[in-house]
Amino acid sequence: MARRHIVEVEQFDRNDLELVFERADVMRQGAPETLRVPSKVLATVFYEPSTRTRLSFESAMLRLGGSVISTENAREFSSAIKGETVEDTIKIINGYADAIVIRHHEQGAANRAALVSDVPVINAGDGPGEHPTQALLDLYTIRHELGRIDDLTIALVGDLRFGRTARSLAKLLTRTTGCRLVFVSPPAVPMGDDVRQMLDTAGIPYTDTPDLKSAVAGADVVYQTRIQRERFATEEEYQRSSGIYLIDASVMDAMKPKSILMHPLPRVGEITTDVDADPRAAYFRQAHNGVYVRMALLQLLLTGDWS
Ligand code: CP
Repeated sequence: MARRHIVEVEQFDRNDLELVFERADVMRQGAPETLRVPSKVLATVFYEPSTRTRLSFESAMLRLGGSVISTENAREFSSAIKGETVEDTIKIINGYADAIVIRHHEQGAANRAALVSDVPVINAGDGPGEHPTQALLDLYTIRHELGRIDDLTIALVGDLRFGRTARSLAKLLTRTTGCRLVFVSPPAVPMGDDVRQMLDTAGIPYTDTPDLKSAVAGADVVYQTRIQRERFATEEEYQRSSGIYLIDASVMDAMKPKSILMHPLPRVGEITTDVDADPRAAYFRQAHNGVYVRMALLQLLLTGDWS
């Protein structure tokens, strides 16, 4: 299937995953001359804060020999503040850039952008919707760390309702075989029914448990996430879900020796810093893998190699 935009993980089949991951392995060694895009310009348009996604996309583009233009607080410092629509903004940027990475606070905004764009649009997170390139780098990290993406038990922990990274990863796991999911979330933020239905259709079993230690004891991958303060209507609601599932040395003791602990980051206390020294703590390596996966995605989209 021709790829013009990256909006949601449902776009990807197993062959796409293999292509992206193999290309990311090449990029890890540095982009060869034949895979560089020196005349291309990437626009990064972020209506919500970001460290990893924006900077890793920009780093990826520069490492491919391309150029970057950026608005890092588009909600305030683009013409959105004057009332310009996302659609109009994207049509304008079409004249300035060869691809657009957009993060927006509204679910569905990246899709709206893609519908009016002649150049590739990449969803860098749309509210509580999806974060497809994060899911790709997460699965790539699992493959790189454990040598496979099939036949794994994966515990997703934390805010599974608003956490778009956990939602997108769970959906992407429908492209694997033999995996099992365990959901560990505060009662107010369970995994959504839309994701559960996708897993049911794909035959991926899942269970819910409030018992973090029993979940991590059987897991090959523990994927911790932040409780997203900015998605709750009130501070009281946030506080009711916050601080329930902490990963510290005692939880690491319960994990298998050959397992990994991941987190899309940023963390706000849900993994204690002493855990960082444990070789199974993969979250900083995970964040660095974002550059290689995003180099692969940009190269594939900008050169038409993915059509
Ligand atoms: N993982 C992630 O999306 O991080 P940022 O919010 O810093 O981009």
